[in-house]
Amino acid sequence: MTSPNDTFIRAELVSFARDPGDGDSPEPGSLAHYPDGLLWLKGQHIHAAGRYADLSPSLPYGADVVDYRDKLIMPGFIDTHVHYVQLDIMASYGRQLLDWLNDYTFPEECRFANHAHAEALSNAFLDEMLRAGTTTAQVFGSSHPGSVNAFFSACQKRQLRMLAGKVLMDRNAPEGLLDGAAGIADSERLIEDWHGQGRLGYSVTPRFAPTSTQIQMDAAGALLRNDPSLWLQTHLAENSGELDWVAELFPGSQDYLAVYEAAGLVGPRSTFAHGIHLDHGMRKRLAERGANIAFCPSSNLFLGSGLFDREAAKETGMAFTYASDIGAGTDLSGFGTLKSAYQVGQLRGQPLTAWQGFYGLTHGNAKALSLEHHIGQLASSYEADFVVIDPQATSLLSRRIQHCTTLGERLFALMMLADDRAIYETWAGGQCQHRRDG
Ligand code: GUN
Ligand code: ZN
Repeated sequence: MTSPNDTFIRAELVSFARDPGDGDSPEPGSLAHYPDGLLWLKGQHIHAAGRYADLSPSLPYGADVVDYRDKLIMPGFIDTHVHYVQLDIMASYGRQLLDWLNDYTFPEECRFANHAHAEALSNAFLDEMLRAGTTTAQVFGSSHPGSVNAFFSACQKRQLRMLAGKVLMDRNAPEGLLDGAAGIADSERLIEDWHGQGRLGYSVTPRFAPTSTQIQMDAAGALLRNDPSLWLQTHLAENSGELDWVAELFPGSQDYLAVYEAAGLVGPRSTFAHGIHLDHGMRKRLAERGANIAFCPSSNLFLGSGLFDREAAKETGMAFTYASDIGAGTDLSGFGTLKSAYQVGQLRGQPLTAWQGFYGLTHGNAKALSLEHHIGQLASSYEADFVVIDPQATSLLSRRIQHCTTLGERLFALMMLADDRAIYETWAGGQCQHRRDG
């Protein structure tokens, strides 16, 4: 049955049914690639995705098929760690983490006490995400609950699948950002108002151990115990100055991760940003609890934090995801994140294949966030969140692509050379939400 709700798009389709492995070619059964494919949408969902020749006999007579045969469609990109409130301080010069937080980040986040500012930045941020092809993200607000109300309202209007939370921070920050006991009560209210509403989910968000007291972290842990469907996002082991500070503040703790473990913050829905300075034992404990590390390569290069060790993660079975970490990250684009991940990998002797990169950015990130039954694939019954990529977007890209003979080569060229100009359209919830000018 077709209805006016149906949309048909003919294009090359690329999606991953599972992890393609580390080889030069994807493991059998992992890649779904239809060079001449058809994406059939019904309302907010994908009804079918497959070979045009197989699906076209089922199309209604005179169906209006959008012809994107010169374009490539992939699932919408997912960003597992990003601060919307830091959009306007991206590229603030020349500091490492703790100075950067004090000099640029905290003053900027103070501005989110103003609701009109939070609304304007929520919309500006979502415009930029969609321009970059990102359809889902796990997002930090500021410590003001209004920052999250503004953000979720903007997401709801666009029917986006998003996770977000209000930062919890009751010490070691400017007065205007400290929430005290109200932090947990405000989080509870936000959870009640937004968690599970449509496509929205709440992430409990203690900023990191140095800015929360033990009391606040324990209370955050209690929220998670009361409702296991909540997510948790924070930072872990990013920078050496931060490690020294945590050791000083928690002298009784075995290591940094143990601080979060003691508060009950480490579980299968927990994302810890960075995880650069971890030892084998911490990686193993994260793996055992099913938590994931958000690898934020452009941020790690920008703040000089260090080079994430993907191989050590794999050896211990610790899950990791790909993230921008705006505003320390320098690139909202998923392509840019993969390019930086490749460069970090090269400096560690761990080059990243395009298969691993694009699997990670889509299905891999969805799986680590427990969203793999909703998003991350072009397949029947998944939510219709996808990007239409124009491989001819720039003259340089077009020249390079002409020299490629395989899909692997083309994806790698996109990973290294593409940016938001290559995102021709971004669709979320079955609607085209961004179309490139021209
Ligand atoms: N650690 C604590 N807060 C932050 C933040 O806002 N950005 C980054 N990169 N690291 C942090
Ligand atoms: Zn961060």
